Amino acid sequence: MEWMGLNELREQYLAFFESKGHLRLPSFSLVPQEDKSLLLINSGMAPLKKYFVGEQTPPRLRVATCQKCIRTPDIERVGKTARHGTYFEMLGNFSFGEYFKHEATRWAWEFCTETLRMDPARIYISIFLEDDEAFRIWTKEVGVPEDHMVRLGREDNFWEHGAGPCGPCSELYYDRGEAYGCGSPDCGAGCDCDRFMEFWNLVFTQLDSDGKGGYTPLAKKNIDTGMGLERLACLLQGVDNLFEVDTVQRILQHVTRVANIAYRADEKSDVSLRVITDHIRSTTMLIGDGVLPSNEGRGYVLRRLLRRAARHGRLLGIERPFLQELAQTVIAENASAYPLLEEKRDYILRVIANEEESFSRTIDAGLQLLESMIEALEGTVLGGAEAFLLSDTFGFPVDLTEEILTEKGLTLDRAGFDALVTGQRERSRAARRDAGAEAWKSKGDAVQGLPATIFLGYTQETAQAKVLCILAQGERADYAAPGIACSIVLDQTPFYPEGGGQAGDTGVLRGKGFVFAVEGTGKMGEGVILHHGTLVSGDALTVGDTVEAEINRAARMAIRRNHTAAHLLHAALR
Ligand code: ALA
Repeated sequence: MEWMGLNELREQYLAFFESKGHLRLPSFSLVPQEDKSLLLINSGMAPLKKYFVGEQTPPRLRVATCQKCIRTPDIERVGKTARHGTYFEMLGNFSFGEYFKHEATRWAWEFCTETLRMDPARIYISIFLEDDEAFRIWTKEVGVPEDHMVRLGREDNFWEHGAGPCGPCSELYYDRGEAYGCGSPDCGAGCDCDRFMEFWNLVFTQLDSDGKGGYTPLAKKNIDTGMGLERLACLLQGVDNLFEVDTVQRILQHVTRVANIAYRADEKSDVSLRVITDHIRSTTMLIGDGVLPSNEGRGYVLRRLLRRAARHGRLLGIERPFLQELAQTVIAENASAYPLLEEKRDYILRVIANEEESFSRTIDAGLQLLESMIEALEGTVLGGAEAFLLSDTFGFPVDLTEEILTEKGLTLDRAGFDALVTGQRERSRAARRDAGAEAWKSKGDAVQGLPATIFLGYTQETAQAKVLCILAQGERADYAAPGIACSIVLDQTPFYPEGGGQAGDTGVLRGKGFVFAVEGTGKMGEGVILHHGTLVSGDALTVGDTVEAEINRAARMAIRRNHTAAHLLHAALR
């Protein structure tokens, strides 16, 4: 087995399965499309469910991908162990009702032993208890010795992740040698210690789970395999853990330079280095796929990861915003496989910078407040109201508060916190209902401090302009997200503001990858022009973006004609 870089390994795998008649597809977005059962894509097969269940016809019956994945259930363990991470890539080859166990096992073996030149004597195979067919194929057709085979139960060898296609599976393990072992006489493939590293899962997908314990056989038998790219790279590169794989290592090294400390000098700072390294990878990828920080759903996962990373930066003594800088290394390490990152570079960096800046304005005050709350605590449970204050005023995701408490052996009254959040949501929903058409009415002080907008509309119908401020629900916001009524302030504009009985212009603000439809205009404060409307395409418009502002000429002419006609009529009647 020879050393191989992560990027090359990915390529080798995809090329191997192309040579076996597979169609190579690019990774799907981390955001599930038309699948409400999942918050984020967590395996190679997740975006392909529709093909497994026969809802849609795949572009070919054999497909191979390297899929971006996020798994957050173990987020608290990230950093503390060397192997947990929230972001990883999964290599997979899939058969939609075409080939089955014979081919899947043979090709897996060929790829490992011939392409990667792994020592066959170090590979062990597990199968599902009753799967005699798999046992026969592995031992008789592929030639694996029987003493390298183990039969494991449902918890190990039945693959299922929420609702959807699932089935018994067979896994490949690599024996890293006795030095990694636990020494127990029972130690073998399937043991929890570090000796036998499970690296490839071949799922014989035959059932469809409703997620509640009900299964229906699928019309056709399928293959779904999954091999963690970083984990495979660990084996090929002879390193112990994810953070020492070449591309990930370079990100970690960047963090050590920013923090001005060495890796492996101190266990506590290593935890922070690993947390930041992992989280900057997942957040860069999430933002690249269009997720924006928010307090719910995917946006909350992103916010939590970014703010958790920011806090660990503080623990390392980094006093300035730094995540944006690190994201550049993530982009550099991944752009060859994901060119989209390069295209969206400015956008990704700005979203990270905005989020980090808004958190860094309050993080120190919040941490101090939490410290004093902890000092004043009688007993070991922090009240929901305190956590609510931290989240609402200081932007502390509740999980972060909880985590800090856990570090000190304390807990949180989570139910109390949840009740306050529910109450707040209901109040703001009611307020939104009341606001109705008033959505664009802003508080007078929202534009305070902004310069008067330079009006170019006498001579121009289009202009390049910079986004200075975004108002949503009358408050300043960092982004205009799709479908939400917002008002945009630019440094200069050709849009005529509504006023003095004359209707304002309509039109569009076009930027890199987005279009904002301007449905009306207004004026506030000291000559600040507002462009009211919604984002109609793209992920977001953010403060600092450059836009091409273009008025709807035909509409302006019609307004003028009306206006002139009204004047003429008025004059005639006088
Ligand atoms: N879907 C299987 C997994 O994620 C291959 O392990």
